[in-house]
Amino acid sequence: MAASLDGFIARKDGRVDWLETKDEFAGGETMEPGFVEAFLKTIDCYVMGSRTYETALRFEAQGLGWSYGDKPTFVLTHRELPRTRQTVEFHSGDLAQFVNERLRPRFRSIWVVGGGVVSAECLRRGIADEVRYSILPILIGDGVQFFEKLDRDVALHLAEIKAYKSGMVGLRYEVRGPRGESRNAT
Ligand SMILES: NC(=O)c1ccc[n+]([C@@H]2O[C@H](COP(=O)([O-])OP(=O)(O)OC[C@H]3O[C@@H](n4cnc5c(N)ncnc54)[C@H](OP(=O)(O)O)[C@@H]3O)[C@@H](O)[C@H]2O)c1
Repeated sequence: MAASLDGFIARKDGRVDWLETKDEFAGGETMEPGFVEAFLKTIDCYVMGSRTYETALRFEAQGLGWSYGDKPTFVLTHRELPRTRQTVEFHSGDLAQFVNERLRPRFRSIWVVGGGVVSAECLRRGIADEVRYSILPILIGDGVQFFEKLDRDVALHLAEIKAYKSGMVGLRYEVRGPRGESRNAT
């Protein structure tokens, strides 16, 4: 996810207007459109919480398009929500069981879009292999946290860092096991 420097992914009311920052970092890399396209191709399916889905629906209604292409998109919810496309499927229940038993056998690269509730649940339940955290050059003071109510420490290994011309810093971490060991080695 993309977050403010103070660790928020949305304002309290869900707005993400602050994602459009105006910084310039002369020494930064440019994000080529071809790179994003190629990267998106590596994702096999998306998983998101219902509030993130509602934001995506709002963006679409505003003419900003649907960010998840034709990839299967699993929305976690206990509610009846509008289904605007065939690729969207709703699910409710234990997240670890859903990811490990239903998604992992079918999909190699599972991208958890967010938001804070779902990303914290992924780390709490030990189902995340990697965390991608893009820090934007802004402080917003309050909002929805990147990881809502995480109740234990999660050890990480810094695997990649990139600074962009826009002032954004992209961090990629690998999640370590409960005793801090690399999970890739097991
Ligand atoms: N900056 C970024 O990169 C970024 C990325 C993603 C999202 N966001 C923002 O983050 C905000 C949403 O984050 P959030 O933490 O408030 O919510 P969220 O994680 O998107 O959704 C949480 C909701 O999903 C449902 N849910 C979660 N786990 C479930 C399960 N196992 N079974 C059934 N339902 C489940 C529950 O709602 P119900 O059961 O009531 O439906 C829960 O309240 C939005 O404003 C969005 O725009 C920002």
